Amino acid sequence: MLATSMDSQRQSQSQPLSQRQSPSAAGPLRAPSREETWRGGLVDDLERVILSEAQIQRRVAELGRQISEDYRGRDLLVVGVLCGSFPFIADLVRTMNLPLAIDFMAVSSYGNRTTSSGVVRILKDLNSSIAGRHVLLVEDIVDSGQTLRYLIDNLQTRRPASLEICTLLDKQEARTVDINTLYVGFECPNEFVVGYGLDYAGRYRNLPYIGVLKPEIYQ
Ligand code: IMP
Ligand code: MG
Repeated sequence: MLATSMDSQRQSQSQPLSQRQSPSAAGPLRAPSREETWRGGLVDDLERVILSEAQIQRRVAELGRQISEDYRGRDLLVVGVLCGSFPFIADLVRTMNLPLAIDFMAVSSYGNRTTSSGVVRILKDLNSSIAGRHVLLVEDIVDSGQTLRYLIDNLQTRRPASLEICTLLDKQEARTVDINTLYVGFECPNEFVVGYGLDYAGRYRNLPYIGVLKPEIYQ
């Protein structure tokens, strides 16, 4: 049974587009709806959803429009901080109608805990030089601010023309160091949140919305 369905899948992948069955006629190949995908499973670990997919997408489009206006005519490099910013940066740049380049850094400051260790390590550095370029650093969330403080200080030594911060979420209450965030998606309550890139122990990043994790999951 399984082999048959895999065979037919393989066959349909190698067929010219014009000869393929439509997804609805193909039965098992029909893509599940958003609702079907996100029923049960990961969602059961959430205490409550704080930002829906529609709210996030609407705000991301607003931010993209604003950033496009602000950076028009400038050589913009959008730098994503991995892994948390990956859905945000992917959605954001697709709402920005201007020529830009994208690069990524990966840092680690948390391990499997839910509070910052304050020790930041660069796991992956930029591929390109930022000297003389306008850099927009894109983060998932600013919590204590220690990760960004370290990144900003590090990037400033490379002499960019400008360096600004865009974060999807801002946990103002948790801040221990001063950070100037120019673009903020939403204020975030001082609780541990997951989804849309944000993880707990590497999980939940694939949820298309953001929610508060049940404390019993990490206690
Ligand atoms: P900070 O150094 O305390 O500002 O922490 C920044 C990083 O910690 C973010 O880039 C996130 O990866 C992670 N982080 C902070 N708060 C949360 C949260 O509520 N959920 C998931 N990750 C978080
Ligand atoms: Mg994280």
